[in-house]
Amino acid sequence: MYDVYAVREDFPVLKEVVYLDSTATTQTPIPAVEAMVEYFYKYAGNHGRGAHRLARETTNHYEDARETVARFLNAEASKTVFTKNTTEGINLIANSYPWEAGDHIVTTLLEHHSNLLPWLRLHKNGVNVTVVNPDDEGIIDTSMIENAFTEKTRLVAITQVSNVFGSIQDVKNITKLAHRNGIKTLIDGAQSAGHIPVNLKDLGCDFFATAGHKGLLGPQGTGVLYIKEPDMLESASVGGGTISDVEGYTYVLEPSPACFEAGTPNIPGVIALGRAVEYVEKIGVSEIETHEIKLSREAAKRLSELEHVEVYGPEDRGGIVPFNVKGLHAHDVALILDQTRKICVRSGHHCAIPITRFLKVDSTVRASFALYNTKEEVDILVNAVAGLKALVC
Ligand SMILES: Cc1ncc(COP(=O)(O)O)c(C=O)c1O
Repeated sequence: MYDVYAVREDFPVLKEVVYLDSTATTQTPIPAVEAMVEYFYKYAGNHGRGAHRLARETTNHYEDARETVARFLNAEASKTVFTKNTTEGINLIANSYPWEAGDHIVTTLLEHHSNLLPWLRLHKNGVNVTVVNPDDEGIIDTSMIENAFTEKTRLVAITQVSNVFGSIQDVKNITKLAHRNGIKTLIDGAQSAGHIPVNLKDLGCDFFATAGHKGLLGPQGTGVLYIKEPDMLESASVGGGTISDVEGYTYVLEPSPACFEAGTPNIPGVIALGRAVEYVEKIGVSEIETHEIKLSREAAKRLSELEHVEVYGPEDRGGIVPFNVKGLHAHDVALILDQTRKICVRSGHHCAIPITRFLKVDSTVRASFALYNTKEEVDILVNAVAGLKALVC
């Protein structure tokens, strides 16, 4: 197991606060920040454009980052597209897939708006959408997905780890069932990559969208989209960097991934993401998973022992612990925790209004754990929430 206290030295802000909001975005380690600074100070140029030394060096570093991320996810670099976030990746698929009127998509009520609204927008334009409900702990019964299939179903779009419950879905099995019926799968990996091992060859999914700025520890404004069969799509977004020729009214697209990365990308961000993923690899994602799960289960157990607290989600959870303090609004709880103990937790509907309503509340408090959190921070959180009893009785 790695030394969490040594790891914390690479995240200076952790000396200032108790950061329990890594589901929203993680902190970025010093080596990744240094990679960004190095780019600006030593070789900033554009990617894939130009023969001069700075353009060449930039392109090499950018493509090295792609190799690193692809290796980490066990995917081919040619199928690994950089985006600005998970949302952009999912929208790219929704807007580029060759839909026909009457096509059908299966998704779930668990989804973050980023994996729901792109499908609801298609629904307005003649594509049918079925939304499958989870159980009370945020688990999707695989057979409910299968029961939703029709002859016209083209895609199952589902999250691997719920950002509201921390529940983990069996996306490998869902992909197997979908493929047996000739249906493609899109996995929202925003809360899985970097937190639990993700092996795209083994998962077998057709599309996998994730963030660079969450479990992969990269900077904000970075994301990753895996496309198993790039030739089946023409990106809805084309322009600079995506074509090899234009003549009259026709153009020839570059092969993947260039054809999916229109315009100047977030070059410093992607280079830093590559360095961040190397950092995660060095610690080991299985070790990170074990550490996060240990902390979150302990926090969930101890919070649920408090009479004035309700904890949501399954016992078997990832690093996410949603809860409410009876009689206090989630935003008030978050504000008090911040003001009194410098504890940073998220409150609200977590960009997932349908599933928050399913819990019969309008918001929850969410404590989320990453590789750099400690048992002492669990103590601080639990003691602070225990202390809120005086406000509600
Ligand atoms: C499950 C899930 N999907 C999608 C997103 C959107 O991610 P991004 O902000 O990278 O677009 C999030 C963000 O929290 C999320 O938790």
